[in-house]
Amino acid sequence: MSDTVLSVRDLTVVVHGDGPPEAIVDGVSFDLKRGEILGLVGESGSGKSVTSRALIRLLPGARLGIAGGSAVLGGRDILALDENSVRAVRGGEIGMIFQNPSSHLDPVMTIGRQIAESIRFHRSVSRGEARRQAIDILRQVGIPDPERRYDAYPHEFSGGMRQRAMIAVALACDPDVLIADEPTTALDVTVQAQILKLLMDLRDTRGVSIIFITHDLGVVSQICDRVAVMYGGRIVEVGDKRDIIGNGRHPYTAGLVACQPAEGHPGERVRTIAGQPPRVGQMPPGCRFHPRCPKADAVCMQTRPPLEASGTAHLVACHHPVLNAQEVAS
Ligand SMILES: Nc1ncnc2c1ncn2[C@@H]1O[C@H](COP(=O)(O)OP(=O)(O)OP(=O)(O)O)[C@@H](O)[C@H]1O
Ligand code: SF4
Ligand SMILES: [Mg+2]
Repeated sequence: MSDTVLSVRDLTVVVHGDGPPEAIVDGVSFDLKRGEILGLVGESGSGKSVTSRALIRLLPGARLGIAGGSAVLGGRDILALDENSVRAVRGGEIGMIFQNPSSHLDPVMTIGRQIAESIRFHRSVSRGEARRQAIDILRQVGIPDPERRYDAYPHEFSGGMRQRAMIAVALACDPDVLIADEPTTALDVTVQAQILKLLMDLRDTRGVSIIFITHDLGVVSQICDRVAVMYGGRIVEVGDKRDIIGNGRHPYTAGLVACQPAEGHPGERVRTIAGQPPRVGQMPPGCRFHPRCPKADAVCMQTRPPLEASGTAHLVACHHPVLNAQEVAS
């Protein structure tokens, strides 16, 4: 059995505007391995959410469209499926959790019923069996007294419990892949730590593979096995966590790590690197990081650097990779 669950190749999402369509996700490729937690990190607007939404074919706006690439899960290319088949994948093979559970849970349906309905949408089981399975999942995600809580509405739960409930809904059909888009950003540090632990436990007990989207490198170092760094809609570096945090070879990665908040402030967001991220309609040619990069030269301004091996499982898209993080931090 292959240890790759999801294989994404050259995923491209364009935005249609006044001018020619522009790629806001531009040739993104990565593999998600069985039972791993892959971090997707990068500044605001780098394309993390659009990438993950493309994988469930739910793009966040009518002006956005998938323009190419493939995303193979269980032998099928999700990007080539018809709408009915995609609906079965969404919530079936791929579950999704978000920053704000309130906008993704139905406020007028009990938590238990939301889980049970998802189970019955994807599988032919009786109502009684769906209820039994839903209670079981509520227990697994750490909701106390799940038989009673089955009949509670989302507003009757605390923020942390609502996040657990959304995880329960996402897990209802035992997905192979869980996409978590900043699931702990809105939570206080204690609850955040509990949710991270829950996700790691679920990976260990259910073998689910997780794409974990975050700004926070502190969270990445706690939870992720591998990390893909995004900039301007492209993956600029991917590797094991220890390749990326502290040994990043892309100037952007090295800059991100250098901006990390000091130890002891794990919930704090990373400071941004000098200069502005590229904007839609104004993507720089060549390497999209060149206007902010201390190492940029004429080649960088004209030629897109390919994602190339820098060690066995460590890939970097840069014409002049850094030798160590101090080179950029200094
Ligand atoms: N509905 C939309 N219509 C047009 N452009 C969009 C839309 N949604 C996102 N974009 C653009 O796509 C790019 C990537 O956005 P995305 O939301 O994926 O970023 P992100 O990395 O998730 O950022 P954040 O960390 O703030 O969540 C941005 O330039 C954004 O302006
Ligand atoms: S390709 Fe050039 S501009 Fe881009 S990150 Fe590398 S050195 Fe900097
Ligand atoms: Mg986002």
